[in-house]
Amino acid sequence: MVQNVSVGLLGLGTVGSGVVRMVEGHQEELLHRVGCPVYIKRVLVQNLDKERSCHINPELLTSKADEVVSDPEIDVVIEVIGGIERAREYILQALSNKKHVITANKDLMALHGAELLSAAEENGCDLFYEASVAGGIPIIRTLVDGLASDRITKMMGIVNGTTNYILTKMDKENLTFEEVLKEAQELGYAEADPTSDVEGIDAARKMAILASLGFSMNIHLDDVEVKGISSITSEDLEYARQFGYSMKLIGNAKKDNGKVEVSVEPTLLPDTHPLASVQNEYNAVYIYGEAVGETMLFGPGAGQLPTATSIVSDLVAVVRNMRLGVNGKSVVAPQFDKQLKKDDEIAGKYFYRLHVKDEAGTFSALTSIFANHEVSLEKLLQKPVGDNGVAEVVLVTHTTSKQQNDNIYQQLRDSGVVNQIKSHYRVEGGAQ
Ligand code: HSE
Repeated sequence: MVQNVSVGLLGLGTVGSGVVRMVEGHQEELLHRVGCPVYIKRVLVQNLDKERSCHINPELLTSKADEVVSDPEIDVVIEVIGGIERAREYILQALSNKKHVITANKDLMALHGAELLSAAEENGCDLFYEASVAGGIPIIRTLVDGLASDRITKMMGIVNGTTNYILTKMDKENLTFEEVLKEAQELGYAEADPTSDVEGIDAARKMAILASLGFSMNIHLDDVEVKGISSITSEDLEYARQFGYSMKLIGNAKKDNGKVEVSVEPTLLPDTHPLASVQNEYNAVYIYGEAVGETMLFGPGAGQLPTATSIVSDLVAVVRNMRLGVNGKSVVAPQFDKQLKKDDEIAGKYFYRLHVKDEAGTFSALTSIFANHEVSLEKLLQKPVGDNGVAEVVLVTHTTSKQQNDNIYQQLRDSGVVNQIKSHYRVEGGAQ
């Protein structure tokens, strides 16, 4: 029986320091939950002299990765350095040295998850990554264990806190995207380079991980359709409110008849949808299972201690497996070959805000474009814009296919009826 467990930590930034604080500060709980002492033996850092936000014996620090990933006394390696190539290399080395690995790295797992999981399995090691999606929310364990008995058909996630914070502030304080982003950067809530968050890439990586687990299929980042929030305007949010919707950046993963669609895009949610009430930097994942019906998990998607909570829970799982002698057995190969839906198999409703010529015949020409594609309109509003002969038309379609909607979009753009398509979003509430 394992008598004690030593951990090597790769990285001592915000999250790494949180892991040290939790492992040191929760010794009694850890001992009770796993049945043996767990301690941190070595920590890889870039700068040995930097001030840290946790108490750590300086003798544990090293600038040589090999002293962590090749130390025969280290049982578990926790990777929190981020980035892709270096993290991948260290994890592969650690696994080949028969060390169990825990990572918070969604970029790495979205791109190289399949390779790393099979390396873990070959070496009889655990590779856990709970913190890679939605920080402190135990969403991966929910999919892998809690709902293991069910068939999941739909997952919708608010899995990026930065964009949820920006959209909440724009909506509540009637500010522009640029104003809120600048303020969020000044307060340190948004990155200096916010591209990955605001353009939906961070959320897409997380959705690739969730879709792979929830649908038991290898879904790659390239399979996720992505659109960010940078072109959303105050006018769009105002109309959304009038129509009874909230605008959210939604990761949408849906399975019908064995085929899946995965996207990240600004989406209008009916105010009655459980995700519509998720405000500020919070994350939430809504799951629909054939047997369980609707469930939703809500919580912090980032932050030092929330993220460390997930990492240290992974550590508890690894140590329990060590004591039972069952490490490396939890990876289940995907049950299904990947089958992505074609555009004519993806159902949705769509919102348009259009500028049209304010003259006789425009309205009927406009509605006939929708009618010609056999798409009917659920909501419709028109008002003049200034006195320049332009009217703003805002509408929401009934459920149609993505293909039909793309055809309509092109015809609206090219027909001469519409001066400008000001905005265009998916609306939740299409066929289940
Ligand atoms: N940048 C992410 C977010 C947190 O804003 O939610 C880390 O995944």
